[in-house]
Amino acid sequence: MAEITFDGRVAIVTGAGGGLGRTYALELARRGAKVVVNDLGGSVDGTGGEHAAAQKVVDEIKAAGGEAVPSYDSVSTPEGGESIVKTAVDSFGKVDVVINNAGILRDKSFAKLTWEDLDAVLDVHLKGAFYVSQPAFKVMKENGYGRFVFTASNAGVFGNFGQTNYGAAKMGLVGLSNIIAIEGEKAGIKSNVICPVAATRMTMELLGDFASQLEPELVTPLVTFLASEACDVTHEIFSAAGGRYARVFVGLAPGWYGGKGHVPTAEDVLDNLAQIEKQDGYIVPTSVGDELGALVSVLAG
Ligand SMILES: NC(=O)c1ccc[n+]([C@@H]2O[C@H](COP(=O)([O-])OP(=O)(O)OC[C@H]3O[C@@H](n4cnc5c(N)ncnc54)[C@H](O)[C@@H]3O)[C@@H](O)[C@H]2O)c1
Repeated sequence: MAEITFDGRVAIVTGAGGGLGRTYALELARRGAKVVVNDLGGSVDGTGGEHAAAQKVVDEIKAAGGEAVPSYDSVSTPEGGESIVKTAVDSFGKVDVVINNAGILRDKSFAKLTWEDLDAVLDVHLKGAFYVSQPAFKVMKENGYGRFVFTASNAGVFGNFGQTNYGAAKMGLVGLSNIIAIEGEKAGIKSNVICPVAATRMTMELLGDFASQLEPELVTPLVTFLASEACDVTHEIFSAAGGRYARVFVGLAPGWYGGKGHVPTAEDVLDNLAQIEKQDGYIVPTSVGDELGALVSVLAG
């Protein structure tokens, strides 16, 4: 089996001062990547900030013989995103890999959600990924190579009580990655999404008895693969938790069609709901064109 290495590669890992991000930064550096360890150093709800977190991970990487620089910028502003990418280019000459991992939580039931809680979460997770990825994408496009890993969550992809802001931001990242995968294809850029579950400070109180089997290091192998040259998959979503890795996908069922010239009523929809919802024979479209292609073949009979 060919060994996966990152020799000559430059990686940005956001939110790498602790939790999952730290494990990615350490592993990529161990495999030869030059790493920008970005972290604001704030609390779980995004307040505060101190440089120690990112610096500590840089120190760990250097102590193990690797190369890394810290970045203390927030991903949540366009200037912060630009500055993180500039740190990579100024320090190491380019960017090959971006792991969008920085995150915060402001959980509240929908009726109680404040606009501050909405903005804070969208700014870090969704807009933050835009702000870091766009300047990096431009560099990658010029170099004809790039790997993006976006961090979504089962909370958005499948749903979870009390996380409308977080779930919406995380599902938004799926759309962002899908389109980067399409736009980056010709330039050798791959983009994928992970939905991790791991025992970190973010989830400490939620995971119960299984926490000891959900070390962040068990998510790292999938992220390392997706960030590597060996990764030939793009436009996909993966669940990663406890050492189990599984594809997650959005499928399109064959559905129900009333026939040419038939104008369906709401009652037709009700009567045919079982067929509309039937999953047998689904496809997994990878573009709007795939969906329209399936529609055209139905309309053409
Ligand atoms: N742990 C899980 O089970 C789980 C599940 C689903 C998704 N996730 C996602 O995985 C990612 C990592 O989470 P974690 O569990 O390691 O939590 P964590 O709190 O340990 O790590 C998040 C890191 O992001 C940093 N950060 C926050 N705002 C930032 C900003 N504006 N700019 C730069 N850095 C910032 C924090 O300082 C922190 O070090 C997050 O995006 C989270 O939403 C985690």
